[in-house]
Amino acid sequence: MSDERLVSLRNPWFVASVGATLILFLFSAFVGFIWLPSVQKDAQFQGLWNAICSAAGVPRTWYSEAPVESTVRTSSVIVTPQMLEHSSPVSIGRGATLAMRCTMCHGVRGLSEANSPNLAGQYAAVVYKELQDFKTGARSNATMTPMVVDLSDQDMKDLAAYYSYLPRLRAYHPDGGEAPPQIVVSGAPMRNIAPCASCHGGVASKVGSPWLEGQPAVYIRSQLEAFASGTRRNDISEQMRNVARQMTPSEIEEAARYYSNQP
Ligand code: HEC
Ligand code: HEC
Repeated sequence: MSDERLVSLRNPWFVASVGATLILFLFSAFVGFIWLPSVQKDAQFQGLWNAICSAAGVPRTWYSEAPVESTVRTSSVIVTPQMLEHSSPVSIGRGATLAMRCTMCHGVRGLSEANSPNLAGQYAAVVYKELQDFKTGARSNATMTPMVVDLSDQDMKDLAAYYSYLPRLRAYHPDGGEAPPQIVVSGAPMRNIAPCASCHGGVASKVGSPWLEGQPAVYIRSQLEAFASGTRRNDISEQMRNVARQMTPSEIEEAARYYSNQP
């Protein structure tokens, strides 16, 4: 037997095995704590220190105070069946005055001749909610967004009272005319689409669903496309996005034709 000591830097076997273990340890620490976490897109892994802490399982409260802000605005309006149900004549009058600057696009009596949506007879809760959503940025449109910046909450209630008080365009679907499209009366159960008429009137009316009869076809089409692509996302719990995403272009066309039908 040699008298060489086992644990000694002069023993090449000892140096090699300790060295290899050390390199393996550093390599796995690098992969586990730095490389893999920094590939993650989630906010808590952003930055080297956050990545290391997150991978090591450090509770978030220990190393970061700022909660992560969402960049997507969602609607903050809760529509209830009783909302803005009874408006006072004073409110309607104030609304009529405020509506003077809306006539250019939405018409003198709330009926647009410029492919903007008709507002006459629209449910007050809907008008109010859409105005709020334009203001908070939950719904955005280059034309409407600047129109609402200086409207107060009361102004929006008054405008909603006024427009809901104006007579709306009635549904025009005479007997002997075109049969209502499948998508409107029965939806498409295999694709999880409830009938439009079960929310928008005809079969049943769900609170928060706008009056569609008489809306310009261009407007209906553009809104369905916006819901489908997600550029409009102010529908709470995605009621409309889930419908629109599943619709075919010809169903969108049929629905737009059906609802815009007027004598
Ligand atoms: C320059 C034209 C223009 C003016 C002025 C205008 N609007 Fe609009 N408005 C539009 C357009 C276009 C849309 C549809 C936006 C979209 O496609 O998302 C719209 C949408 C709306 C909607 C949503 C309707 C719905 O069914 O979802 C409301 C409510 C509304 N406007 C109210 C008003 C009020 C109140 C005023 C006045 C303070 C006003 N608008 C002034 C063009 C206009
Ligand atoms: C589950 C109920 C529900 C069903 C089913 C439904 N919708 Fe809607 N729809 C809504 C609600 C709620 C909104 C309003 C979203 C918001 O702005 O808050 C809406 C908005 C819309 C709008 C925009 C109107 C406006 O003035 O802003 C259009 C157009 C529309 N729906 C068409 C349809 C069509 C076409 C169908 C059938 C294929 C359909 N919807 C089925 C609930 C529904």
